[in-house]
Amino acid sequence: MSIAEKFVSMEYGPAPEDSKEAVAWLGRHGHRLQHFIGGGWQAPAAGEYFDTVDPSNGEKLASVAQGSAADVDAAVKAARAASSGWRALTPHARARYLYAIARLVQKHSRLLAVLETMDNGKPIRESRDIDIPLVARHFYHHAGWAQLLEQEFPEYVACGVVGQIIPWNFPLLMLAWKIAPALATGNTVVLKPAEFTPLTALVFAEICQEAGLPAGVVNIVTGDGATGEALVKHPGVDKIAFTGSTEVGRAIRAATATSHKRLSLELGGKSPFIVFEDADLDSTVEGLVDGIWFNQGQVCCAGSRLLMQESIAEALIAKIQDRMSTLRIGAPLDKAIDIGAIIAKVQLDRIRKLVAQGVADGAICWQPQVTLPARGFYYPPTLLSNVHPTSIVAQQEIFGPVLAAMTFRTPAEAVELANNTVYGLAACVWSESITVALHVAAQLKAGVIWVNCTNLFDAACGFGGYRESGYGREGGREGLLEYMELAWFKNAPMLPAETTPALPESESEEDSTASGTDIPAIDRTVKLYIFGKQARPDSGYSMEVRAADGRLLGEAPLGNRKDIRNAVEAALKAASWARATAHNRAQVLYYCAENLSQRRDEVAHRLSAVVGEKQAVAEVDLSIERIFSYAAWADKFDGAVHNPPFRNVAIAMNEAIGTIGVICPREAPLLGFLSLVMPALAVGNTVIAVPSEAYPLITGDLYQLFDTSDLPDGALNIVTGYASQLLKTLAEHDDVDAIWCFGDEASAAAAKAMSIGNLKQVWTNEGRAINWFNPKLAEGRWFLEHATQVKNIWVPYGE
Ligand code: NAI
Repeated sequence: MSIAEKFVSMEYGPAPEDSKEAVAWLGRHGHRLQHFIGGGWQAPAAGEYFDTVDPSNGEKLASVAQGSAADVDAAVKAARAASSGWRALTPHARARYLYAIARLVQKHSRLLAVLETMDNGKPIRESRDIDIPLVARHFYHHAGWAQLLEQEFPEYVACGVVGQIIPWNFPLLMLAWKIAPALATGNTVVLKPAEFTPLTALVFAEICQEAGLPAGVVNIVTGDGATGEALVKHPGVDKIAFTGSTEVGRAIRAATATSHKRLSLELGGKSPFIVFEDADLDSTVEGLVDGIWFNQGQVCCAGSRLLMQESIAEALIAKIQDRMSTLRIGAPLDKAIDIGAIIAKVQLDRIRKLVAQGVADGAICWQPQVTLPARGFYYPPTLLSNVHPTSIVAQQEIFGPVLAAMTFRTPAEAVELANNTVYGLAACVWSESITVALHVAAQLKAGVIWVNCTNLFDAACGFGGYRESGYGREGGREGLLEYMELAWFKNAPMLPAETTPALPESESEEDSTASGTDIPAIDRTVKLYIFGKQARPDSGYSMEVRAADGRLLGEAPLGNRKDIRNAVEAALKAASWARATAHNRAQVLYYCAENLSQRRDEVAHRLSAVVGEKQAVAEVDLSIERIFSYAAWADKFDGAVHNPPFRNVAIAMNEAIGTIGVICPREAPLLGFLSLVMPALAVGNTVIAVPSEAYPLITGDLYQLFDTSDLPDGALNIVTGYASQLLKTLAEHDDVDAIWCFGDEASAAAAKAMSIGNLKQVWTNEGRAINWFNPKLAEGRWFLEHATQVKNIWVPYGE
């Protein structure tokens, strides 16, 4: 082609980024990379290595150490040895190290970007302009948190040694999201990069050396899933932070259930990209390019489900297809490439298989005319239309450049379709009407909502999911809390083990239909409290309740799984409680306190038979105060408006989690119950509570309290019975969004292990004793933070 012809066609010429420096770096390591443990390189104990490959051409880049349990053990020991010294540093000293790391990331940014692209296959444009600058930003931001830590979080201490496992889609960025907050809060780290992309983590290890970071503060052990598993199971690790597939997230939840390891999970997604008819379609299409074709669609928050209002569907599809035809796919080191290579053959096969299944389900597949490079793993940008909402391509994470398009008619239908997924990581809403966009954003069940924008991230703004997209946040204040514990809680003594009598025989059968025979009236009997009404138990059985001196006080129903199911159904019907204004919720809570104060003496008198007069009076008086406290908090536990470094505000809202199952502590039957139930209700959750097994008769006093206080029916439901048995049904119920379990150590472990089905959030006392009588420990933000999840809504402004 002559120059004159090129001038007319305006074809791009090749513009490859130079890989010389990256190749030289690999050469300096002899193309054979070891673990980074205790501040230096360490060969794998078993002598095994695996290959890491450039997915753009299938060529081997280097051999990398395969971590064994022995390597993980050495790294955890190094991290432990470094832990007290690192914690003993002043906040300023830690801040200086993080600042030095940020500066060095910038200094080595070209090497990092090129090596990232070679190892991962993402376009250099993205690694150079997005990944690496965000890595530096993350360390700068957290250098600031290290500096402010003691002022801002005076009651907290570091978890200790943190195990971190990251995926291959944003190798260095995920490392930064994990390591920066961990170090800022005084933890030491063992990080395992993904087996497909270990290289930039090892450059980062050198950066730690160059920054003079004390040996053992950061350790990198490379390897595959087995290495990750060894890290998860290592008894010397205090917290696990994981990003990756939901399946592995579940396995990690199960593997950590019987330990006291803190856990945060950032898992998959199937995020909706909702376009209303008044959207600016040209901007929408550009947003979509970032939404689904960024990083070849291998993005956990990719806008992989396009939901279009019917009236504009045809026009939008035409514009999308035009734009898809201009996307340039090819060698990712070429600076003018939009779509690079898929990470590996296995992922490419997975994408192909899912698309074929989608087509078999009735989807129409459209791809632009592109010539894919002859070598390497490539997949063209793909649009699937006519997708049924139940099709596999509408439900499963494809993790490839594949968009599944569907239509809707009304905003309500858009919300319903958008929420029709087990995931809840992110969502985009495109509309020129801010009212429509924010109204819809509020109803979407997702941790991040981008209004008229896509895929924006910042260290100051929490990122993380609802539902099976995991729990915990990365970034912002809430991200820091994942790496710290309240000092008093960490050191609290353990409660003695609880014993639970065996169930009556028929109880172990599915759906016992025993009729609700009347419970014999002894001194006092209570019933269950479901949907604002007293209800007889399904089983017809009851449990005896005895005073401290052994005297029979009365009987409480022995609730079973059917009662729990009824209670969950009731809680779902009370969803409007979450939409009540905070002022309204505060009024209801104040009213509860007022009612309790009117019954103070009689409640205390009854309770005194079990806990003694002194405790009974203290429980009632403090309960009144505690309810007041949460009535006060109800309209004050605000979110925040973040100020990321773009023309954007990110509105961080504290949202109710949904329906919470609460196993209340034995030791303070009234105060313990209200200390947990009240914060949950204050922020708009609905609750199914199992009261103290020591004194379930408290239910009688409680339902009188709530009956007369305008709490909507179903917002609080009480099922008495044996906690260990009711916990199972609650934890396994898919419509329960979180479990709070405050019993002995075994109950805490059971709550975690049983909740893996829908990956519900679990909060326990870890079997530790909580002094419910000390308001400094037993009320306030710690409880409210567990009762809420943060949703960040990003809204652009300015020109
Ligand atoms: P994966 O979840 O298996 O791998 C993520 C990380 O976990 C890697 O470092 C891996 O070595 C480690 N790992 C694997 N098994 C483990 C175990 N039992 N215990 C501890 N660590 C373990 O993800 P994979 O196989 O690479 O990708 C499969 C699918 O997962 C993708 O197609 C995509 O749908 C999804 N995925 C989602 C990601 C996200 O950011 N949410 C990231 C990567 C994958």
